[in-house]
Amino acid sequence: MKILIYGMGYVGLTAAGCLTREGHSVVGVDVNEDKVREINAGLCPIAEPGLEALLSQAVRSGLLKAVQTPGEEVASADLAFVCVGTPSAADGAHNMSHIAEVSRQIALAVDPNRPKPLTVVYRSTIRPGSTEEIILPIFRSVLGESVRRAVEIVYNPEFLREASAIQDFFSPPKIVIGTHDGGPCANLDTLNASLDAPVFYTRYRESEITKFVDNTWHAVKVAYANEIGRVCLRLGIDPRKVHEIFVSDTKLNISAYYTRPGGPFGGSCLPKDVRALQHLAGDVGASATLIDSLIRSNEAHKHFVFDYCTRELKPGARVLLLGLAFKANSDDLRESPNMDLAGKLLRAGYKLSVYDPSVDPAKLVGQNLGYAYAHLPSLSQILVSKAAAEVGDYDLVIDTAGHAKQLSLKPAPRTIDVARLGLERA
Ligand SMILES: NC(=O)c1ccc[n+]([C@@H]2O[C@H](COP(=O)([O-])OP(=O)(O)OC[C@H]3O[C@@H](n4cnc5c(N)ncnc54)[C@H](O)[C@@H]3O)[C@@H](O)[C@H]2O)c1
Repeated sequence: MKILIYGMGYVGLTAAGCLTREGHSVVGVDVNEDKVREINAGLCPIAEPGLEALLSQAVRSGLLKAVQTPGEEVASADLAFVCVGTPSAADGAHNMSHIAEVSRQIALAVDPNRPKPLTVVYRSTIRPGSTEEIILPIFRSVLGESVRRAVEIVYNPEFLREASAIQDFFSPPKIVIGTHDGGPCANLDTLNASLDAPVFYTRYRESEITKFVDNTWHAVKVAYANEIGRVCLRLGIDPRKVHEIFVSDTKLNISAYYTRPGGPFGGSCLPKDVRALQHLAGDVGASATLIDSLIRSNEAHKHFVFDYCTRELKPGARVLLLGLAFKANSDDLRESPNMDLAGKLLRAGYKLSVYDPSVDPAKLVGQNLGYAYAHLPSLSQILVSKAAAEVGDYDLVIDTAGHAKQLSLKPAPRTIDVARLGLERA
């Protein structure tokens, strides 16, 4: 393929080296005159293992050249990659000026009557909504009605890591392709045919947020590991042994478990033990800011769930809450987020009924009993039987534990599945 790459930084140069190795013809575009000169001399402007060899070979074989402004290369290109920088702006947002500038340049250079649209693939990390709110309007403003004929706009985040960029380019953890309708992109599929990685086709916004979610998760992992390491060192515990034990658990620790958005955490262990580790870290001067934030984050989520469920619901409305214990098939009410939700619903003036097949007030004992009545004194009055739940008329059903599918409820105007928050209509 004939490929243009805008931005000869870490991402663009790696793509140039790897795509030319595959036999594609690449024109690298960069505003930086020194970079353009160095690339054309077969040199690599950045330190990246193995890259200079690929670039110099590509220049020698005529598959790579660099320019500051492309000319007729735009007309013959099948595909353009945009890899310009999106550095932090003063307010912390991404500075999108380079993206806007390059988009305008491409829109002005492309022939509106091309026989086939130019596939313009954005690989820079951009804020969700940028394609629809910045990039597409720029193309539309320049190309007008011809925009669909002239260009195909795609977002395809880059997952390479510096220092292992070439290896990561050829062996990415996944390929995410964002298009206007969530469908595939033929040119990119052809280009990626030899890569062995799961491919996700999705709409622009889901593809755009992927990098934020990934990178922030990596940051969470590093910060968490370091906080645990600090606590261990202060307590004279070997952090390497602790790490070895931690990562050996691929069932609950290093797994997809506990990563799906849904309800808040709760129960008799998590909140108690998080609070205790928070206390311990403070006690030994290990300052664990991430761990400190967990309970507050969870409280914020409890408020969000309540607000989400009760939006557009007038006080006095009839609400059925399915599941009161912290999880299905348990009668443990201690620190259950559903107890908290029930309390909020009652205080806000809703007519609340609660059904939980595992909770029988007559069988609650010990701490569980004390917690239940201290936090929800009207527990016995609001708990209803399966039969009563099924004959009741409700304005809203909130399902916290997948109980709805085991019941023959009368249809309610709204049913919210807390484990699939926001997706109840999907
Ligand atoms: N570096 C990484 O490991 C990495 C990995 C994945 C994604 N990303 C993302 O990819 C993007 C690029 O990252 P990078 O590290 O390669 O950036 P970089 O700063 O190394 O390179 C960006 C290049 O774009 C050039 N440029 C700026 N405006 C231009 C214009 N109008 N026309 C042509 N060239 C122009 C700059 O001169 C520079 O050479 C960023 O959004 C980054 O967040 C980076």
